[in-house]
Amino acid sequence: MSTVYLNGRYLPDDQALISPLDRGFTYGDGVYEVIRAYNGRIFLLAEHFARLASSCAKMRIGAHLTPLEAVPAKLLEANGLGGDALIYVQITRGTAPRSHLFPPPDTKPTVFAMAWAFKPNPALADPGASAVLEPDVRWSRCDIKVTSLIPNSFAAQRARDLGAHEGLFVRDGAVLEGSLSNFFAVADGEVRTAPLSNYILPGITRAVVLDLCRDHGIPCRETPVYATELPDADELFLTSTVYDVVPIDCLDGRRLPADRPVTRRIAQLFRGVVERECA
Ligand code: PDD
Repeated sequence: MSTVYLNGRYLPDDQALISPLDRGFTYGDGVYEVIRAYNGRIFLLAEHFARLASSCAKMRIGAHLTPLEAVPAKLLEANGLGGDALIYVQITRGTAPRSHLFPPPDTKPTVFAMAWAFKPNPALADPGASAVLEPDVRWSRCDIKVTSLIPNSFAAQRARDLGAHEGLFVRDGAVLEGSLSNFFAVADGEVRTAPLSNYILPGITRAVVLDLCRDHGIPCRETPVYATELPDADELFLTSTVYDVVPIDCLDGRRLPADRPVTRRIAQLFRGVVERECA
């Protein structure tokens, strides 16, 4: 049993009940964030809440987020999570009779949050993640962190069925991002990742990595990476709240070189940011 947050109350998870008419249940009509805590300290809370605000605005969900910023820390405390953990925050359009139209404007969004102890699978850092390419069948607003994750779930499961960790979405030949991560390639010493658009999530780990590259003189460019270019890439890596920075050591069954100096340096720099923020 854990303590969760639902609509202003902290309560045992088995007492957190919502209506089956919640738009999250009937339409998958909600937005969410996954936030990391290291040593019981929350990492980049403001950045996650800024993205949540952006998701709410793009979805026309009118939620008051400022009071919710205290929820992640309270959940860590209520659940005795003093080590590494994840916090999940979800906001749906609320409970309303089923209709494709938006419910009346006074409908209260449903806000749910939970936290649990978490450490990434160490095999992802070493030897690395194995990934497979997937056709991107998602909608055209992948910049919004919506709870409707069916294509992401299918991609993750197909990767698992093939013995891999992550599925990478390919649209019009460009490798955009993973089912729950952003994707980077390193070629001739230059780090490249898909530019921000409606086809990728503006990953928070991605933004930290790009800042680190700029601050430390590592050449980087936000520009499409095409699947046809991957055989020539020296290194590939993934970034995510649930991965940090992890190398790809196998793509579609092809092993990549074990020597990945750029990924190693970026992963170390990222670890430094975590240590500074969450010491
Ligand atoms: N997902 N791209 C997609 C499609 C994602 O779902 C995620 C994160 C990322 C990485 O973003 P960030 O660095 O902000 O975590 C990129 C979370 C972890 C999830 O759905 O569980």
